[in-house]
Amino acid sequence: MKALILGVDGYIGWPLALRLLNRGHEVAGADSFFTRRRVREVESDSAIPIGTMGRRLAALKENGLHMEFLRGDVSNAAFVYRLIEETKPDVVVHLAEQRSAPYSMLGLKQASDTMYRNVISTLNLSYALKDLSPGTHILKLGTMGEYGTPNIEIPEGFFDIEYKGRKDSLPFPKFAGSWYHWTKVHDSNNLMFANRLWKLPVTDVMQGVVYGTRTRDITDTSLFTRFDIDEVWGTALNRFCAQAVAGLPITPYGKGGQTRGFLSLEDSITCLTLAAENPPEEGEYRVFNQFDQHYSVNQLATYVKEEYERTHEGKAEIVHVENPRVEKEEHFYQPVSEKLRHLGYHPSGDLRVDLRSIMNDLEKFREKILSLKKVITPRTFWKSSSGLSEKPSGR
Ligand SMILES: NC(=O)c1ccc[n+]([C@@H]2O[C@H](COP(=O)([O-])OP(=O)(O)OC[C@H]3O[C@@H](n4cnc5c(N)ncnc54)[C@H](O)[C@@H]3O)[C@@H](O)[C@H]2O)c1
Repeated sequence: MKALILGVDGYIGWPLALRLLNRGHEVAGADSFFTRRRVREVESDSAIPIGTMGRRLAALKENGLHMEFLRGDVSNAAFVYRLIEETKPDVVVHLAEQRSAPYSMLGLKQASDTMYRNVISTLNLSYALKDLSPGTHILKLGTMGEYGTPNIEIPEGFFDIEYKGRKDSLPFPKFAGSWYHWTKVHDSNNLMFANRLWKLPVTDVMQGVVYGTRTRDITDTSLFTRFDIDEVWGTALNRFCAQAVAGLPITPYGKGGQTRGFLSLEDSITCLTLAAENPPEEGEYRVFNQFDQHYSVNQLATYVKEEYERTHEGKAEIVHVENPRVEKEEHFYQPVSEKLRHLGYHPSGDLRVDLRSIMNDLEKFREKILSLKKVITPRTFWKSSSGLSEKPSGR
């Protein structure tokens, strides 16, 4: 299989490239280094140091692997057409989007930037494939956050409904909680329509929150992937582990009853590999809900505290902070995730074992985590997202 990974320099893209290469697939990757630049803009950095792309490609070579890399922005249509023409992939894994909910909520400028980049990149890809390679599988990363937190079970994409005596199978309603999450909803709608128009084969992945520092392919430090912990680019569980290791309070937002689907980086890569190696039927649009278990933020904070205290002398402290988001803090949550299991996905491990392994890796970067302390506390408040002024209030 020939895979093209858009966003290959990212948290998920890099380990996915390693996995596909190690499984003998041909891989080409593209990236604009957008995340590196935007993370620097909020005076943050990956808590685990990562090399430049040049160093990464050299590390691949030392491990007997080769990946073709093309630098460019996938919101530029000409670049996407060139990519498809030059690489002629069987599957395009599209990860190259602005992926921070808080970034999209900083203000109008960042909301517009997120809308444009994300929606247009997926549109570019759909047109380029329709024109140049209509049989290529689009494997697109959306998010479980597209669904929101409805008071009923969440199916995988579609549900059967009876209304005023008539029945249909319709897309499940979406109720996203940030401009970023809405771009993913718009992408899903556009992909569904592109599929209906041109029969492009699509897997639309509703992915839960990913945690972890490693996959089985990350065998030495030169192969590490990025690991963000700041309030704009970091995610809850990764941040909690870093806070515990650095002796900082673990900070759930608000009451901490917010419940979401989570999966390890190892499992995310396994699922994406399964989806790539088992493409949809000709002309099929399918939706996978991709997560292992769902947990409340409080449960996760408690597990991190317990695992830290089990393996260290000191105590870890949980301190609830004001919730910067507009979201329900206590709610019903029951999503379904069956299709990937039918393809052979078995979650790889035990959350508590994973937490110990993450904290073990992070120990080596304790000083670096402490240097990021000032950018961990939430400063991006959904309600004060600014309009025409350059700076969001509170900064
Ligand atoms: N990490 C998670 O927990 C998670 C959960 C659900 C969904 N997702 C989705 O998975 C995808 C990958 O997430 P990630 O955590 O690896 O993010 P990431 O930011 O680490 O990786 C994305 C990569 O894409 C690149 N990129 C962004 N916009 C680009 C553009 N217009 N042109 C070229 N390159 C561009 C970035 O530079 C980065 O290297 C994203 O679409 C994200 O929304 C991630």
